[in-house]
Amino acid sequence: MLKIAPSILAADFAKLGEEIRSADASGADWIHIDVMDNHFVPNLSFGAPVIQSVRPATRLTFDVHLMTEKPETLFPAMMDAGADRLTVHAEACTHLHRTVHQIRELGLPAGVALNPHTPLSVLDYVLGDVDLILIMTVNPGFGGQSFISGMLPKIRELRGKLNALGRPDVDIQVDGGITDQTAPLVVEAGANVLVAGSYVFGSSDRRSAIASLRG
Ligand code: DX5
Ligand code: ZN
Repeated sequence: MLKIAPSILAADFAKLGEEIRSADASGADWIHIDVMDNHFVPNLSFGAPVIQSVRPATRLTFDVHLMTEKPETLFPAMMDAGADRLTVHAEACTHLHRTVHQIRELGLPAGVALNPHTPLSVLDYVLGDVDLILIMTVNPGFGGQSFISGMLPKIRELRGKLNALGRPDVDIQVDGGITDQTAPLVVEAGANVLVAGSYVFGSSDRRSAIASLRG
């Protein structure tokens, strides 16, 4: 079942609640929330107070992508603000196995994101402990970048690994440069959760934009 997760990084921050309601009304499955700390990535976005203030705008899943160092220090605040699921970067976690279990102990599904250069093998000993793997299809930090097509074999290899492990239930999410052109490629490779920022929020017809990602 394909899920579309518009990234509010590309929304108009002056009316964020309204933008989230618009994504909901346009057929989004999850709302993707990019938290950036200007250390792990060269950009700063927003944190728990902003997430909490827009929480009443929708009942859709708040899918929080933590592009931060020491992401575990943010877990309690993110949980209180209304995050429904948390994804951390493997590159930001010295003790990834522990961090993934900390998310699950909060009762939330745990995701692990990989930067484009990071090999799948870093996940070999945590694949049984995660609910979602996020394959970054751009270098994280900014919206509106071009899709890196070299990530397609990585997605395909990951889907094969999960099938071989008997874990076809693990979500494969992709994030960065997703449009109606790239969506069919990542879906064919095995992704089932598509994040799209500028493609959805930059469109004058968000309903059609989201529908076009479903193919
Ligand atoms: C990038 C973020 C993405 C970003 C995607 O660091 O993780 O979620 O908003 O933006 P687009 O869809 O415009 O590439
Ligand atoms: Zn993201």
